Amino acid sequence: MVQVRQKASRRSVSAPGGSDVSPGVGRLSPVGGSSPQTSPDSPLLHDIIGNGKSHLNVIGVGSGAGEIDLEMLSELRLKHPRVTVDNEVVEPSSTELQKYKDLVSQKPGLDYIKYNWNQMTALEFEEQWKVKKMTKKADFIHMIQMLYYVKCPGATMSFFRSLLDKNGKLLIILVSGESGWGKLWRTYKNQLCNSEISQCVTTGDLKSLLDSKGVSYQSYELPSQMDITECFTEGDEKGEMLLDFLTEVMDFSKTASSELKAGVLELLRHPDCSVESNGKVMFNNNLGVIVVDQLT
Ligand SMILES: C[S@@+](CC[C@H](N)C(=O)[O-])C[C@H]1O[C@@H](n2cnc3c(N)ncnc32)[C@H](O)[C@@H]1O
Repeated sequence: MVQVRQKASRRSVSAPGGSDVSPGVGRLSPVGGSSPQTSPDSPLLHDIIGNGKSHLNVIGVGSGAGEIDLEMLSELRLKHPRVTVDNEVVEPSSTELQKYKDLVSQKPGLDYIKYNWNQMTALEFEEQWKVKKMTKKADFIHMIQMLYYVKCPGATMSFFRSLLDKNGKLLIILVSGESGWGKLWRTYKNQLCNSEISQCVTTGDLKSLLDSKGVSYQSYELPSQMDITECFTEGDEKGEMLLDFLTEVMDFSKTASSELKAGVLELLRHPDCSVESNGKVMFNNNLGVIVVDQLT
């Protein structure tokens, strides 16, 4: 395995390839559904706020700088202008948390939200919750592009699911199992994934886990593509950065064996991972969305 990895993230809103991979939670399109739903009438928002509550307990896990959290809460508020929100934010990075607080202080009209800032990991939050014997229940819990960073995504998902109130929803977004990432990781997990840093987990893996436990869920796909054409030009600076980003290995082209490099490059432009059109290689960067109900 190539040991040196960079902290590049397929999970950021914009990738080196320049494509927008923003989850756009208000615009979910059900798998197999014929037409995309538009906010704020998406089935997800209907499910969450359709229970007539005037106060919602929300938990954001790995909220980062909070842009997406605020977008979702604004959509909830649009639909239910009188709703008030108690918002637990779980975010270990002090930098990200500060950005979130700055965003809240700059944005007008957020006084319907009461914030509880928890600068800690999901696991630390879980431990604290148990030590304090908390009984508070949540109407909406979201984990957007963060389950890669916990040691055991399945256990974390189960704990937070156990906090859901009646009709509560747990929303998880990760790269889709059907994406190029899924194919790349299924083929080269042993060579590329360093589980000390992050888990190469997709919504496909979580769905298999939920299926094995007989848990029902709703799932959606959020289409996204990333232009990775430069990866295939030897020595191209942007291409090398993209390759590092895709493999999460620092200086991949210089440090990987020629066999691994050739295999990864071949797979990246294979139809399982990318489509080629007009001289461009477009990597399938689809995100998957899973919505799980409370434990019954
Ligand atoms: C890719 S960002 C996603 C941020 C935000 N949810 C979004 O979609 O814009 C992943 C976030 O998870 C946070 N994170 C990393 N490890 C975590 C952990 N163990 N528990 C909770 N959050 C974690 C990171 O600090 C980062 O803010």
